[in-house]
Amino acid sequence: MKMGKKILVTGSMGQIGTELVRYLRKIYGSESVIASGRRIKEDSSIAEEGPFELLDVTDPGQIAAVINNKRVDTIYHLASILSAKGEKDPQMLWEINMNGLLNVFEAARPQGCSIFFPSSVAVFGPGSPKDKTPQDTITRPITVYGIAKVTGEMLCDYYHLKYGLDIRSMRYPGIISNAALPGGGTTDYAVEIFYDALREGKHNCPLQENTQLDFIYMPDALEGAVKLMEADPSKLKHRNAFNVTAFSITPKQLYLEVQKHIPEFTITYEVDPVKQAIADSWPNSLDDSAARTEWDWNPQYGFEMMTTDMLNVLTAKLS
Ligand code: SER
Repeated sequence: MKMGKKILVTGSMGQIGTELVRYLRKIYGSESVIASGRRIKEDSSIAEEGPFELLDVTDPGQIAAVINNKRVDTIYHLASILSAKGEKDPQMLWEINMNGLLNVFEAARPQGCSIFFPSSVAVFGPGSPKDKTPQDTITRPITVYGIAKVTGEMLCDYYHLKYGLDIRSMRYPGIISNAALPGGGTTDYAVEIFYDALREGKHNCPLQENTQLDFIYMPDALEGAVKLMEADPSKLKHRNAFNVTAFSITPKQLYLEVQKHIPEFTITYEVDPVKQAIADSWPNSLDDSAARTEWDWNPQYGFEMMTTDMLNVLTAKLS
């Protein structure tokens, strides 16, 4: 176990936070990782498993108090609203995703904390190259979520250059996972399809069958975050933010892969125009060679292996 760090995780009740807190506690020790969130979700045991603080990232004083009182030196800042939900209330998204990030930076500045910021494929837009989207290219998103992520990336660079904060980030694609559900994202279908397959034997997909998007499996998302934060800074030419991906698939491909395990599984398509427009504006596939070269991004789970593991874990969980 690596000792000596004091880590704060914001948004720890969310899809990534739930698993990242447990992962970090295994590496750095339970007492070294403070989980936090705006509220405690009824179905979450994160607050009972180790240190927990109620923390609203839109309140600068609350963040400063936790950082100072707990002598935090590293922050994984995950609190945010996802893409489709953001389109329902863009002003609220800006308040949480953008002002929340600024509040975290300002509270972290006096302590010189290191910060991990999850950016997203949502930084890209209709003008970005669609296939093998390069690390450095046009980033003109059409969602408020994407605008906040691309602005966030620039703010990360700014606080690094101006104030010397060690801020690193990667552009997560859709993350497939089996602990906490995502909520309000465009890529949520790729998680929901597994629950539906096992519980109902059918899935009603909000995206067209041939909508191609990038994905990674949660174990790789977690390992990648820590690997990036532990990477030798002299090797990082980019910081905010690295493209990462593991596989690029459509709903139909995912359906057929799941159906190999559950032959009676069926799918229907009922397109959600908001989600479809968002998905259509995102890349089909990313070029993640900068992450592979600069800090050894090397996802372990391919499409088939992820599918098998998801079904095994969820079969046990839902039985
Ligand atoms: N998975 C996220 C979403 O769909 C993208 O970062 O909103």
